[in-house]
Amino acid sequence: MSALDGTVALVTGASSGIGAATAAALSEQGAAVALSARRADRLDAVAASIREHGGTALVLQCDVTDEEQATGAVESTVAELGRLDILVNNAGLMLLGPVEGAPVPEWQRMVDVNVLGLLYTAHAALPHLLRAAQQGPRNVADMVNLSSVAGRVARNGNGVYSLTKHGVGAFSESLRQEVTGRYVRVSLVEPGATATELASHNRPEVLDSIRSQFGPAMEAADIADAITYIVTRPRHVAVNEMLVRPTEQVR
Ligand SMILES: NC(=O)c1ccc[n+]([C@@H]2O[C@H](COP(=O)([O-])OP(=O)(O)OC[C@H]3O[C@@H](n4cnc5c(N)ncnc54)[C@H](OP(=O)(O)O)[C@@H]3O)[C@@H](O)[C@H]2O)c1
Repeated sequence: MSALDGTVALVTGASSGIGAATAAALSEQGAAVALSARRADRLDAVAASIREHGGTALVLQCDVTDEEQATGAVESTVAELGRLDILVNNAGLMLLGPVEGAPVPEWQRMVDVNVLGLLYTAHAALPHLLRAAQQGPRNVADMVNLSSVAGRVARNGNGVYSLTKHGVGAFSESLRQEVTGRYVRVSLVEPGATATELASHNRPEVLDSIRSQFGPAMEAADIADAITYIVTRPRHVAVNEMLVRPTEQVR
């Protein structure tokens, strides 16, 4: 028996980075996984690799900033795979730089993806997670929300990204208090620098300053490992928050 046999997980932002690695890791533990993101070709590649290793993977093309699509991805997961035990709210966007003169559409996109996309998905998933917590195989369900070191500490140059991740932390703690008595565990994961596509969406001048700020990064699999640890704890143990930095990252 693997720890997640008989369970179903939905991972948002599963087309690259931490989401792709997490989907693979949860599948290795026995979960059937639904993968959502906008780039269907990339989701197909992740799903093919999971199936090659004997897992079950469902591809759901979805823009989480559209409430109907975000809700649809949750409903399709339950319709196709039968239930929902684990939601990993991972889709995210990090556009850094000074507030002064910043392109406002960058802020709108980050709030849309990091805050509203996560909220739409959480809202749609909650009734299914509450139901899964009452029906085996584990009698417990999980929502793992991806924050960041930037969700703990604001720094010069990451104002709006940090705002969105502080928001994720506040929402997660409030929701945790609301549902933990019904065995839905809400957990916050706060990664430090991790080698993914995340920084690549920044303007070139911002990208230069990001490169000079950060040293060695973790791998996406390191954060997938942290998420897997959280969702494979026994029913009576809830890991509420996990801050994970590369060893050499000081701030
Ligand atoms: N990498 C780091 O250093 C780091 C540190 C702290 C926290 N985090 C957090 O970790 C999470 C994952 O990021 P990552 O580092 O793995 O970056 P990534 O490789 O850029 O992955 C981001 C994922 O989000 C998806 N996404 C973006 N916009 C979306 C939208 N509108 N609708 C649906 N999916 C969308 C992307 O898929 P599509 O483009 O295909 O839609 C992609 O799968 C994020 O929440 C990020 O803030 C990362």
